[in-house]
Amino acid sequence: MRHTLLLIHGFPLDATLWAANTNALRTAANVIAPDLRGFGSHASNDVCVSMEQYAHDLHALVEERRAERVVLCGLSMGGYIAMAFVERWPHLVEGLVLCNTRSTADSEEAKAGRETTATDALQKGMGVIARAMAPKVLGQVSRQDPDRVAQVEAMIARQAPTAAAAAARGMAIRPDRTHVLRDFHLPALVITGDQDELMPLPTSQAMVDALPRGHLQVLKNAGHLSNLESPAAFNAAIHGYLAAL
Ligand code: MLT
Repeated sequence: MRHTLLLIHGFPLDATLWAANTNALRTAANVIAPDLRGFGSHASNDVCVSMEQYAHDLHALVEERRAERVVLCGLSMGGYIAMAFVERWPHLVEGLVLCNTRSTADSEEAKAGRETTATDALQKGMGVIARAMAPKVLGQVSRQDPDRVAQVEAMIARQAPTAAAAAARGMAIRPDRTHVLRDFHLPALVITGDQDELMPLPTSQAMVDALPRGHLQVLKNAGHLSNLESPAAFNAAIHGYLAAL
């Protein structure tokens, strides 16, 4: 039976994050790449959206598509949501790919930073957030490419401030989910970029160490958005993982 691959985007982005992946991955799986609540084409006025709420939305989508089991692939905030999904519906998950993410909760300092991000998004607008974030999410190599920078800035700038604020607040209250990884006994893939400055390599290694059957793939010349910065290597990694499932 064909796999169903659910791609879960990061913050504050939308499903176009996966533009260079979906077609290439469709040869191996039915691909679902939704906009999360409030992002992209999805309107919402939530004040705070927890990772559990996003996972709940995705569960409804999986039911609607009548997929029996899914392979979850989440990048950064998408990874936090994937772990919340695994915790609640482990029987529906046949595979897990965690990209540029971490299983631990925010520090008190990081939580305070989330509220600043939320307030900035609401008061200053997404253009300000986009200009500040784009250089941080791209690796040193991608940062030299003006088209790449413009693509990521535009993706962030077009998101609704309310969605960014709600997601930032939701990330601040997420719990540590390392235990979810310890209890995940199926093969799992952890992907990161060697130039990811937001989630340095030890955070990926810690997840691999927690996973009973975790495998680490580090993509060269890629930063925090490894799927977009190094699509060929990313797609090959997912193909290899799906083939071995
Ligand atoms: C993301 O890319 O989703 C964010 O960097 C996640 C975070 O801020 O923790």
